[in-house]
Amino acid sequence: MTDCDGAGAQTPLQLYESLTAQGDQVRVLKTAKADKGEIESAVQLLLKLKLEYKQATGQDYKAGCPPPENLTVPDNAPAAEGATNEDEVNPWSVTTNNAKGVDYDKLILRFGSSKIDKELVDRIEKVSGQKPHRFLRRGIFFSHRDMHQVLDSYEKHKSFYLYTGRGPSSEAMHMGHLIPFIFTKWLQDVFDIPLVVQLTDDEKYLWKDLSVDECHRFAVENAKDIIACGFDVNKTFIFSDLDYMGSSPQFYRNVVKIQKHVTFNQVKGIFGFTDSDCIGKISFPAIQAAPSFSNSFPHIFGDRKDIQCLIPCAIDQDPYFRMTRDVAPRIGYPKPALLHSTFFPALQGAQTKMSASDANSSIFLTDTPKQIKNKINKHAFSGGQDTVEEHRQLGGNAEVDVSFMYLTFFLEDDEQLEKIRQDYTSGALLTGELKKLLVETLQPMIATHQERRKQVTEELVKQFMTPRPLHFNF
Ligand code: TYM
Repeated sequence: MTDCDGAGAQTPLQLYESLTAQGDQVRVLKTAKADKGEIESAVQLLLKLKLEYKQATGQDYKAGCPPPENLTVPDNAPAAEGATNEDEVNPWSVTTNNAKGVDYDKLILRFGSSKIDKELVDRIEKVSGQKPHRFLRRGIFFSHRDMHQVLDSYEKHKSFYLYTGRGPSSEAMHMGHLIPFIFTKWLQDVFDIPLVVQLTDDEKYLWKDLSVDECHRFAVENAKDIIACGFDVNKTFIFSDLDYMGSSPQFYRNVVKIQKHVTFNQVKGIFGFTDSDCIGKISFPAIQAAPSFSNSFPHIFGDRKDIQCLIPCAIDQDPYFRMTRDVAPRIGYPKPALLHSTFFPALQGAQTKMSASDANSSIFLTDTPKQIKNKINKHAFSGGQDTVEEHRQLGGNAEVDVSFMYLTFFLEDDEQLEKIRQDYTSGALLTGELKKLLVETLQPMIATHQERRKQVTEELVKQFMTPRPLHFNF
């Protein structure tokens, strides 16, 4: 049932009739130049009904075309906006019934993290002396743990290091994977601090039907994409678990300490493991936790265990770090701080995140300009109306429109973005025009990434992935 009262119980035909009546109602209000608020709420109800109709029938509403009587509803029909089921967010799955995406405010309450509010964004600006990144200005990084404490210490000249990662499950990364790395690069630049990047090729071997060698090869290939984001080789260490675990006694000691302090019951509760999961999976969270402690990297930090760690990632990874933060004080280490991002949505809509396991839901960093254009034109879920006339009259719904959502992640200019939102909502900008703007934003961005990746030599990868001292002054 949606927040559009009673409509959830309607048959497709009743929904169709409600929609037709609501369309008429909007036209009457507009012709009569009714109060703006009244028109706006009538349009919102119309959009909700349209989403609900699509959910119920698997097809777009078309005036004059009622649904067939013997309609069977497809399993993968997009869900209605505003549906109230609890969102699922964990390292393996992100789903919601809400066309606007996960309810992130609710997630903050459920996970017990804190909202990145204006006060924190202003503080980051003050302490770093830099204009906040668009991901901060637009609430894309929306939640944190202990970021104020990181800034308090930084102001007292007690610095920190960054830790993020990637599970190399395939050769190509998609645009969603770029989000934490783009932001981490910005943090490295503005705070001038070291970074460690964990490539969990062991995790992917345990979870996927891949050989150890394939996972390791994907780790090296993914490292090239990560390096192409522009990280400073003097301040960045990228490591494959399969390589580093065996070569670093200090890292392994921390893994064992963590393993001793977490029970099977606890990981079952946090990650949903069952009795039939292999023991590799059950002990893996300790390996993702270990880089949160500075003495896991003696070539960088010596035997210092007091250096605070800050982890930028999407919020799906938080379960690992809730566990890490619980263990940290019990083994004498500081808790890592976190900055969480929202999800870059699948092309088909914000009910799921962009995911490598569904090629049609994703734009990959290896896609050609033509593939990018075709995917957006064919698959990007639109909040627009069915006909140009209707769109001009009723406007589009930017809140559920995937092309607009993608622009919020990648278009730098705030004013331009706001103008696009207004024009789309008023109907001045058509869906095709919005998609064109997105294509023109993403094509050069991905081409530049591909060009930079080409410049990444095997020698440079080796340099980034060799345990060595890094340059920093604290
Ligand atoms: P992985 O490879 O699934 O994802 C890599 C990073 O990308 C984020 N991410 C997304 N962000 C925005 N929108 C999306 N659609 C999207 N999909 C993925 C993930 O949150 C992650 O930050 N187990 C981890 C690897 C890892 C790690 C870490 C990640 C090891 N240590 C420390 C973050 C921090 C994994 O498989 O990530």
